[in-house]
Amino acid sequence: QVPNESADQVTTTDSFVKVLAESSNLKSVPTQFTFSNDFKGSYSDSIPIIDFSQLTSENPHQRSKALQELAKACEEWGFFVLINHGIPETLLKAIIDASLEFFELPDDDKRRYEAKSLSDPIICGRGSVITTENHRIRLWKDFVKCYVHPEFHCPEKPLILRNDVSAINYRDIVFEFSEKTRSVARKLLQGISENLELEQGYMDEALKLDSCFQLYAANFYPPCPQPDQAIGIPPHTDFGLLTFLIHNGVPGLQIQHDGEWFNTNSPQNSILVNTADHLEIFSNGRYKSVKHRAVVNSEAMRISIVMANGAAPDAVVGPAAQLVERDGRALYRPMKFIEYIVSMQSNRLHGKGNLECLKIQDD
Ligand code: SIN
Ligand code: FE2
Repeated sequence: QVPNESADQVTTTDSFVKVLAESSNLKSVPTQFTFSNDFKGSYSDSIPIIDFSQLTSENPHQRSKALQELAKACEEWGFFVLINHGIPETLLKAIIDASLEFFELPDDDKRRYEAKSLSDPIICGRGSVITTENHRIRLWKDFVKCYVHPEFHCPEKPLILRNDVSAINYRDIVFEFSEKTRSVARKLLQGISENLELEQGYMDEALKLDSCFQLYAANFYPPCPQPDQAIGIPPHTDFGLLTFLIHNGVPGLQIQHDGEWFNTNSPQNSILVNTADHLEIFSNGRYKSVKHRAVVNSEAMRISIVMANGAAPDAVVGPAAQLVERDGRALYRPMKFIEYIVSMQSNRLHGKGNLECLKIQDD
């Protein structure tokens, strides 16, 4: 997602990774992409599953049990599989299909959204150049991302035709998905507020979640001839509070837990959720922003749809005052949400994560 794209993509003239992968006779990964590593992940049956319907249940016993499970998931994994979230399966399918159709558009339609500046509200990129572990590589993915809240931006095409009569735009589907995920994210954050022993609506108010920032991204990973020689997205943490992710059933997301990499899989219709930088800051370090990466495979195309949920662009995010009081000190410096996003780009170029920059050292 977002954090990894550096300014280099602005000047790239290279082809879409999709086009490259589809060219016949591609038996090996071109050298600009090579990044060898051990991409194997372990499996764990203790990856938390959170039942959203219990979290919103009228039954206080059910609800408090679900809250406890949520607290444990945030503390121990920074990651969970969300089930019974109430977002219709048809919408999940529609956004995956519509995003796929975006990548199927003629190259010129997509090149319209080539980044001119990193703050462009819509960017379509291809095989971004990034610096990781001190060398420059290209990523094995194409992507499109747009700011969808508080201001809504989305490409006009594709126009999706249904039953030859009604036409539903990609835009309409993205809009509906952003609305629905926003409401689920806010309810989760209310639960998290309670778990931090703050008032239920504390985070909502302090971070002005009525006008919360949301970024939608679709990542397109074509099959890769040498999946151990390239990476979709190298290890990173996300900005924001909670990131939601769904995909087309092809695995690829790995999360780090106790220093080890784990594969994730998601039951039909579930949403993968991870805790991100601003929840680590707000909780004064109780909930860590989880490190994750996207690996590629030689068998099948993978698409992932990401919705990053943050604070309002002008909200100042720092450790919650009551938590600082309880802990005796703040572990992070506060910063305006939008400034974090802007400065992230330049920090990345200097190889330093933003979250690191905000940590207050113990002296
Ligand atoms: C991301 O980290 O933003 C995307 C990971 C994935 O595609 O699974
Ligand atoms: Fe991410």
